[in-house]
Amino acid sequence: MFAPRIQRRMFSASTRNLSKVTVLGAAGGIGQPLSLLLKMNPRVTELALYDIRGGPGVAADISHVNTKSTVKGYNPTPTGLAQALKGSDIILIPAGVPRKPGMTRDDLFNTNASIVRDLAKAAAEAAPEANLLIIANPVNSTVPICAEVYKARGVYNPKRLFGVTTLDVVRASRFVSEIKGTDPKDEEITVVGGHSGVTIVPLFSQSKHPDLSANAELVNRVQFGGDEVVKAKDGAGSATLSMAMAGARMADSLLRASQGEKGVVEPTFVDSPLYKDQGIDFFSSRVELGPNGVEKILPVGEVDAHEQKLLEACFGDLKKNIEKGVAFVAANP
Ligand code: NAD
Ligand code: LMR
Repeated sequence: MFAPRIQRRMFSASTRNLSKVTVLGAAGGIGQPLSLLLKMNPRVTELALYDIRGGPGVAADISHVNTKSTVKGYNPTPTGLAQALKGSDIILIPAGVPRKPGMTRDDLFNTNASIVRDLAKAAAEAAPEANLLIIANPVNSTVPICAEVYKARGVYNPKRLFGVTTLDVVRASRFVSEIKGTDPKDEEITVVGGHSGVTIVPLFSQSKHPDLSANAELVNRVQFGGDEVVKAKDGAGSATLSMAMAGARMADSLLRASQGEKGVVEPTFVDSPLYKDQGIDFFSSRVELGPNGVEKILPVGEVDAHEQKLLEACFGDLKKNIEKGVAFVAANP
């Protein structure tokens, strides 16, 4: 009897501390199902849904779902964005254009860099201490863009900035389970690097199936899983539903960690010491989360010869993508 009561008290106290979640781009292909999944999460007590169009409509719809959290939609009125952000503990940014067949994620840079920069400016002003989760592509560049925006305002906390790469491990575990005939929930696959093409590096040698690191077709499928969806959608966009699931999982992990749960680990693209000596300031690896955001960046660990080659191929593109984001903010503050 005693222990559960204590647990309940701890839960409700910390729930008050960290429960407002804001989605920027909430009316989009990712934004809508992501917002719905967040509404289903009992750890979220307040949901703020902002978009340049359609935020209040999505909010009205989702607000009828009979869970306890409040939901409010915001338009780009002079104060709409700031109100959506104020008091937020987690801000997710899926705002931006998706790919069409034949495009790389880097082809989205010209449109999405300024969208993310401007939203980051607003977040740095209104909720500088919130965890900022970037979904908008190219993640390898949009995350450094946010860092530069926060640095320029003197509010950069590298422990609070995350590129969402969860979908890469979701895909990897699913694809492996299809090959091995297993339950994906039992397949934890580490994926490191960045979030585009060859910068995505699955480490099957560290999984239950080390033989799979030699399976070039599977490695390619994980690296180009996004293209598979873009092609199938045939001009109507990229992954939205699986991405919403992955984004909701990442937000839930942060909420659990912030409420005191130990050992919550997610892969995520963060300001990382792992390869800074090679000029790579951001890198996705397994990260232990805590009440302050990033608790501990876990090492990449042992890799085999196939994976070493993949890592080397990753570094070149990743470095360029990061530098492009930094240069963009320097030229367009
Ligand atoms: P979408 O076009 O369906 O939705 C984007 C939404 O952003 C739209 O509702 C639009 O009105 C809104 N928007 C545009 N500019 C805005 C601004 N300044 N402020 C607020 N909202 C704004 O696109 P989508 O399919 O939801 O994809 C969104 C982004 O997510 C794309 O860049 C896509 O490449 C990326 N993505 C990333 C991952 C990942 O793993 N990180 C996975 C899938 C998609
Ligand atoms: C994905 O991995 O599905 C996303 O990054 C969207 C895309 O452009 O592939």
